[in-house]
Amino acid sequence: MAIVRNWLFCLVGVFSFVLRVEASTYCNATQACPQDKPCCSQFGECGTGQYCLNNCDVRYSFSQDSCMPVPICKSSSTKFNDYSSKMGNADVFLGNVSEADWLYSGRVLDYDDEESLILAMPKNSGGTIISSTRAVWYGKVSARIKTSHLAGVITAFILYSGAGDEIDYEFVGADLETVQTNYYWESVLNFTNSANISTTDTFDNFHTYEMDWHEDYVTWSIDNVVGRTLFKNETYNSTTNSYHYPQTPSKVDISIWPGGNSTNAPGTIAWSGGEINWDAPDISDPGYYYAIVNEINITCYDPPSSVKKNGTSAYIYTSSDEFLEKDIAITDDDVMMDTDGGSGLDPHKGATTSSVQKTSSSTSASSKSSSEASSSHSTSTKKGSKTTSASSSSTSSSSSSTKKGDKDISASTSLVSPSSSGAASSSTGSASSAGMGANVATNWGLTAVCVVLGYII
Ligand SMILES: *[C@@H]1O[C@H](CO)[C@@H](O)[C@H](O)[C@H]1NC(C)=O
Ligand SMILES: *[C@@H]1O[C@H](CO)[C@@H](O)[C@H](O)[C@H]1NC(C)=O
Ligand SMILES: *[C@@H]1O[C@H](CO)[C@@H](O)[C@H](O)[C@H]1NC(C)=O
Ligand SMILES: *[C@@H]1O[C@H](CO)[C@@H](O)[C@H](O)[C@H]1NC(C)=O
Ligand SMILES: *[C@@H]1O[C@H](CO)[C@@H](O)[C@H](O)[C@H]1NC(C)=O
Ligand SMILES: *[C@@H]1O[C@H](CO)[C@@H](O)[C@H](O)[C@H]1NC(C)=O
Ligand SMILES: *[C@@H]1O[C@H](CO)[C@@H](O)[C@H](O)[C@H]1NC(C)=O
Ligand SMILES: *[C@@H]1O[C@H](CO)[C@@H](O)[C@H](O)[C@H]1NC(C)=O
Ligand SMILES: *[C@@H]1O[C@H](CO)[C@@H](O)[C@H](O)[C@H]1NC(C)=O
Repeated sequence: MAIVRNWLFCLVGVFSFVLRVEASTYCNATQACPQDKPCCSQFGECGTGQYCLNNCDVRYSFSQDSCMPVPICKSSSTKFNDYSSKMGNADVFLGNVSEADWLYSGRVLDYDDEESLILAMPKNSGGTIISSTRAVWYGKVSARIKTSHLAGVITAFILYSGAGDEIDYEFVGADLETVQTNYYWESVLNFTNSANISTTDTFDNFHTYEMDWHEDYVTWSIDNVVGRTLFKNETYNSTTNSYHYPQTPSKVDISIWPGGNSTNAPGTIAWSGGEINWDAPDISDPGYYYAIVNEINITCYDPPSSVKKNGTSAYIYTSSDEFLEKDIAITDDDVMMDTDGGSGLDPHKGATTSSVQKTSSSTSASSKSSSEASSSHSTSTKKGSKTTSASSSSTSSSSSSTKKGDKDISASTSLVSPSSSGAASSSTGSASSAGMGANVATNWGLTAVCVVLGYII
């Protein structure tokens, strides 16, 4: 579901949005971003800085080099025990991949009993997402997780690219024995792309979910048993003369989000298994809905043999007409900005002297460590630990105090201006809106909601 993807990046987008109070500029399939705000974010707004990082949509940005180049795949195995303090804060991250392999937006907590990370979704919140700082092109990605549960609560594990390609696992809390798989090519909605795999209760049991993504096929496996295979050659579209197959460098995301929130479109709520109950037992103890991430492995494969290479460290798009496999090159271009005024067009913008750079990087480092401190807790018993975490942790404290005023302004501004009403309706129970235009409108609604939410959390 495209809307899943929108939600995933909602918080990331919002917090960068919140930092800016000037008038917003929108972007979509018919309207690209202007040069001074060249990056089109996931939620359809133009800007610089975080707008140009992992949620940056290369298709609707000013030019194909406006988004920051994407850090190249690096094989890794991450155990998420005692890990929350090692995560980067997506609000302030400027692309230094030596600082963090994973970013969070929302609220994460350590869960020592299961040597895992909790992604929390407190009452009325928009949930939490963690994202890799590097992309995969191509590769095998597996995650050992326990999903959330109950109607209206969605857990997702996806690969997502700046060209709108997507390979998904989606877990609907109302049906814990059915795992939904899906894929998108450039955000094109096709209801026939979805398929289910059966397994045992995904809330009670850790399972290992794997997406093994090759140039010409992808498999979805649960506990090493292949449940679905998609061949690229089955996706050929003779109208566009191209394969509608996910084929561009993709980040890894895991999230929990409230598909069944009463303010969502009816189709989304139906797909989510009904309205979410914000007074469920989980909301009082441990204090939130949650998903549990124990381990994520990434194994990188070689890029396509025909790829253009002028370096070894980043993926870039070389064409503004198409965003296909053939339009990717590997370079040594900068992946990091000096300030949040930067973009792919000028990553060093705002860095006047080397001392300014040092100051700005130490500022973000300190705000990062304060958030880390606030989100890491040791635990003794499962329930008890979560309760402790719930009462004492808040990611919004990670934003520096000087940004509070801006948040106020942004929050009240967007409360009056959401254009979301009815934007993402769909009669088939699948929530995705039919086109990018509707997605953008949806995004605005979500953005507004998330601003409020980010403020509440
Ligand atoms: C990136 O982060 C690492 C680790 O914190 C640091 O040593 C390095 O100086 C940073 N690079 C830049 C260019 O700021
Ligand atoms: C969920 O719905 C409630 C109203 O029931 C609203 O206050 C809240 O902002 C919504 N949250 C999200 C994330 O949509
Ligand atoms: C990650 O890789 C390690 C080492 O091969 C393996 O033991 C573990 O089961 C893998 N975990 C996942 C989630 O794939
Ligand atoms: C959806 O995919 C199927 C199978 O590839 C194809 O037959 C159908 O035409 C596609 N529909 C759209 C709207 O692209
Ligand atoms: C997958 O399962 C859900 C119920 O959990 C059902 O609503 C949906 O139609 C199924 N999708 C497919 C493609 O069978
Ligand atoms: C697609 O490719 C696979 C493996 O390369 C092959 O087994 C299959 O027959 C092909 N299917 C079509 C429709 O060409
Ligand atoms: C081919 O792609 C076009 C544009 O996305 C779509 O309208 C059409 O339904 C697709 N046809 C098939 C056979 O997939
Ligand atoms: C290759 O990259 C270097 C910088 O890393 C750049 O100066 C040069 O122009 C690039 N060459 C081509 C052919 O793009
Ligand atoms: C795209 O954005 C422009 C400018 O905000 C707006 O006028 C237009 O209606 C939007 N197009 C779609 C398809 O949403």
